[in-house]
Amino acid sequence: MLPIKTKKELDKKLRSKSPIKSLGLVPTMGALHQGHMALVEKAVSENDQVVVSIFVNPTQFNNSDDLKKYPKDLKKDLALIENISSEIIVFAPSVDEIYQKYIVSKKYDFHGLDKVMEGEFRDDHFNGVGTIVEQLFKIISPDKAYFGEKDFQQLCIIKKLVETQKIPVQIIPCPIIRESHGLAMSSRNERLSMEMRLKAGFIYKTLKTAKDKFGTKSALKVKEWVDNQLLKNDDFELEYFEIADVETLTPLKRKINNRKYRAFIAVYAEEVRLIDNIALN
Ligand code: PAJ
Repeated sequence: MLPIKTKKELDKKLRSKSPIKSLGLVPTMGALHQGHMALVEKAVSENDQVVVSIFVNPTQFNNSDDLKKYPKDLKKDLALIENISSEIIVFAPSVDEIYQKYIVSKKYDFHGLDKVMEGEFRDDHFNGVGTIVEQLFKIISPDKAYFGEKDFQQLCIIKKLVETQKIPVQIIPCPIIRESHGLAMSSRNERLSMEMRLKAGFIYKTLKTAKDKFGTKSALKVKEWVDNQLLKNDDFELEYFEIADVETLTPLKRKINNRKYRAFIAVYAEEVRLIDNIALN
């Protein structure tokens, strides 16, 4: 399986296919794992043609070290994709192909969704995500695009992007895939020691207990409990824990009937930043 590197080549390839009834897109930054593959499998089951994009997007990294350290293994990625189907088209453009002269992001109004949690701690991150995803939508024109709930805030931002930019694509959310001890799968997990990878099941365990407590306690009390759990544990440093409305992502002050809430967490372990989230009701 060979990746397609240019927009022109991709266009030619897509036009060479017999009429495509439904085109599915799975945007990724590579270093694929079973979390990504679940999205690819879902896309394959719902479309007659699937494109997986692999592009480590420089404008969404606010830390150049994080960008440099981002794992890359195109050969392994291609093998994983081919294992699902050799009919899948892999689009792996260069930075020049996507950004030409200026590696900068567009500025979007995400109606405040980008101001909390990840947005608060990763300056301009979502403008970078919006820029690349909008470009991919323009280049590929998919009918459906698949995003993981692992990055729930990103999923909300993409839905807002599609709504405000009036892009005719259906956004399909996909559930979080976890390692056997609970750690949400992530390309970053590779940077953890084996010992820490096992210990990091603690993050999901904490989220699950927070969910149980949310049934009977106030959001403030749940937050205090989580803060304490992390203070007591020297292996992890808490960046944020937030309980927010799933539509607006505004931090919860007082529970309102019929609203859906989710808990979000970001922690550092061995200097690796890990995020996770859980539906609360
Ligand atoms: P990346 O981190 O490679 O993730 C690609 C997609 O896989 C995202 O939609 C992400 O939410 C999903 N994903 C990752 N780990 C998952 C897991 N454990 N369970 C379920 N889904 C998971 O997210 C990005 O790339 C980029 O920001 C991108 C959207 C490609 C734009 O550059």
